[in-house]
Amino acid sequence: MVTLITGIGELVTNDPDADQLLGIMTDAAIVADDTTIHWVGRRADAPDADRRLDLAGRAVVPGFVDSHTHLVFGGDRAAEFAARMAGERYDGGGIASTVGATRAATDPELRRNLIAHLFELRMQGTTTVEVKSGYGLTVADEQRALAIAADLTSETTFLGAHVVPAGTARDDYVRLVTGDMLAACAPHARWIDVFCEPASPNAFDGDEARTILEAGRRAGLGLRVHGNQLSAGPGVQLAVELGAASVDHCTHLTDADVAALAGGDTVATLLPGAEFSTRSTYPDARRLIDAGVTVALATDCNPGTSYTSSMPFVLALAVREMGLTPAEALWAATAGAAASLQRTDIGRIVAGARADLAVLNAPSYLHLAYRPGVPIAHTVELAERA
Ligand code: NIG
Ligand code: FE
Repeated sequence: MVTLITGIGELVTNDPDADQLLGIMTDAAIVADDTTIHWVGRRADAPDADRRLDLAGRAVVPGFVDSHTHLVFGGDRAAEFAARMAGERYDGGGIASTVGATRAATDPELRRNLIAHLFELRMQGTTTVEVKSGYGLTVADEQRALAIAADLTSETTFLGAHVVPAGTARDDYVRLVTGDMLAACAPHARWIDVFCEPASPNAFDGDEARTILEAGRRAGLGLRVHGNQLSAGPGVQLAVELGAASVDHCTHLTDADVAALAGGDTVATLLPGAEFSTRSTYPDARRLIDAGVTVALATDCNPGTSYTSSMPFVLALAVREMGLTPAEALWAATAGAAASLQRTDIGRIVAGARADLAVLNAPSYLHLAYRPGVPIAHTVELAERA
């Protein structure tokens, strides 16, 4: 079933060949089936289709690409959040409590929880979601987390190297992550990630992170890094040196980190939901963009540091708190995040791309940041209903 979409008040294409960042078109129409965009152009030139969808002047943007989430988990950490708002600092120690709740959950419980969160994301305009493991930290618990995630998204990330679990020696755990755990998890994962953060007692230093990432690469996985979240550390430069697709957080950056990112191909993924929920200083997105770095935005949705599933909220934070223009923030939440997943079939509305569209209850994409907290973004469902 092919649909002709008309009545689009403003179309954000992110067409890389356009002469402005967002490739905005007015008087536009789209022809798509439920998986692929066939045609994008002026309404007057549109070919016919099996059916029509008139959007009555609403704006259409590429579906959001949430390239960083931790959604296979049990329990929540509302009390930890309340304690933080009362002045406590975040140091990663709370991860252990989610590990306990995740290990205690059954497979169907973890799957149901993941589906509920994916639905929540979709209801807010997100069409691609990366999902990490990292709350199991045993071979069996990491493997089942990834098997459950892989059933629901192709963007799965092995994060056995989230923290060293209680009662395990660091060296033994690095050997496990790079040995039996990697072997069990790699078939279910596209990426490997490591929490490289010498400032957090149970996360990994630069040498450990290098060992883990190199093992992941040998197992055929692409590389991602949690870097420079709590302090300026080795994560960013290691990610660039190893050619990682993305280094995420980038909250504390030295001049050398910014120069390394500007000289490499690694995308800087910023996660301002984490700074919001840990009451921390926001990353300097303006400085990165001005240096020529490719920037992505994602939610980091997890029960500890950032329990939001809303890409529009993240986008609004990036505009209000991090110095991005509304156009730069939308690009980062769509095309930039697609780049961080090394994908060109998402994050843009052009012929041949996936039919992943978000419609706004608003005439312009500007309303995404202008109307924070208002649920104006929805996915466009093109599949035929029975
Ligand atoms: O991206 N920093 C490491 N991992 C997560 C938080 C995990 C947690 O606190 O549960 C993050 O912020
Ligand atoms: Fe994270």
